[in-house]
Amino acid sequence: MEKQRGSFTNRLGFVLAAAGSAVGLGNLWRFPYLAAKYGGGIFLLVYLVLAVTFGFALMITEIAIGRKTKLSAVGAYGALDKRFRFLGYLSSLVPFIITPYYCVIGGWVLKYFTVFLTGQVTASASDDYFTGFITQPAAPVIFFVIYALLTMVIVILGVEKGIEKASRLMMPILILMTIVISVFGMMQPGAMDGLVYYLKPDFSRFSATTVLAAMGQLFYSMSLAMGIMITYGSYMKKDAPLEKSVRQIELFDTGIAFMAGLMIIPAVFTFSGGSEEALGKGPSLMFITLPKVFESMKFGTVIGAVFFLLVLFAALTSSISLAETLVSILMDRLGWNRKKTCVAIMIFILAVGIPVSLGFGIWSFIAPLGMSLLDFCDFVSNSVLMPVVAFLTCIFVGYIIKPKTIIEEVELNGPLKIRKFYVFMIRFAAPICLVAILVFAVMEAMGAISV
Ligand code: PHE
Repeated sequence: MEKQRGSFTNRLGFVLAAAGSAVGLGNLWRFPYLAAKYGGGIFLLVYLVLAVTFGFALMITEIAIGRKTKLSAVGAYGALDKRFRFLGYLSSLVPFIITPYYCVIGGWVLKYFTVFLTGQVTASASDDYFTGFITQPAAPVIFFVIYALLTMVIVILGVEKGIEKASRLMMPILILMTIVISVFGMMQPGAMDGLVYYLKPDFSRFSATTVLAAMGQLFYSMSLAMGIMITYGSYMKKDAPLEKSVRQIELFDTGIAFMAGLMIIPAVFTFSGGSEEALGKGPSLMFITLPKVFESMKFGTVIGAVFFLLVLFAALTSSISLAETLVSILMDRLGWNRKKTCVAIMIFILAVGIPVSLGFGIWSFIAPLGMSLLDFCDFVSNSVLMPVVAFLTCIFVGYIIKPKTIIEEVELNGPLKIRKFYVFMIRFAAPICLVAILVFAVMEAMGAISV
């Protein structure tokens, strides 16, 4: 098994690839719509606090587990303690749920790229364009299939060639582009109100739901609690400074999410007046707001095309990382070769993704817990499974293998600066918060508390 495991050629390669996994639709699409919906500034504040405490501790833990065992999730937990093998399986379940629907949204992005490429800006800026598209039976499915194929082709090429090269090339351009678009957006009339809404916390809007949404987003955005960072850690060399790498990945990830909010939220105020309804658009927010921005920009068609191309790249590095995790799990487990495994995974993605895509249109009668299939998958992974996995990981590290196992691995590259804090987070703060969140998530789903 060891022989097949590639490894990143240098530390920058690792940071960029892990950041490539972390930075994706979660930052560009999911973060802004949650921030808009859950009160702007207060959501941002809660998210930031969680990122530097909770997110940091969890990411250190996962990467260290991967690097220590040189295995992906199932093998890794099993190698540290046989009884916790199930935790590996449980966390592996998450990318299986996310990957298909992630590719569905990837397909939407692909569609918008082609829309701008063919100059249909005005049409795409109209209010019903997006809904019109996702409710069709064939078109979104076709874009989804193309997107999924793109992902798998890169995965077949292997770790260094595919993932590393792709992420290196695309990340810097994406950052530049978000800066340009947000600066333009903020110069538009009404945008200042949006900026205030986004940056100034309104404490009257603080609630358990805000924390809950922010926490789910944190897992999602940083690719935590699903075995992904374990897989990435397993590709990391022993001499690479782990703590510093984690800081850089977090900074990258949070920075881009912040920029995405800056790009989208003020624009909602400019074009839709910042009403409750406009801010609460949910998953469609990016696809509805940004075309309006591009339509009003000089050279908006070109800028829009380039932008959606970059979002596509960001999404691809994430779906590659998702698919790579699935492939690596099956390869480690079943001893299949890479090609055969990739084909199997592709079939799986299609089998789940097609119903998810149709769930907005002809299959919308399938509505578990009153949600669309996509929202349901998102809910099961982000609000249920991930908190459970994160909780069990804390218990596992805090009380079974003990924090010192992780700390020793991290300290192969020099002292862990926040040793005491880390132990406190893993043993007490994180598990207690997680239980609270989980309870609220379930109660919310049952409609027991009003949101
Ligand atoms: N973290 C990625 C994002 O922000 C999404 C992702 C989730 C990637 C799960 C890998 C695994 O878009």
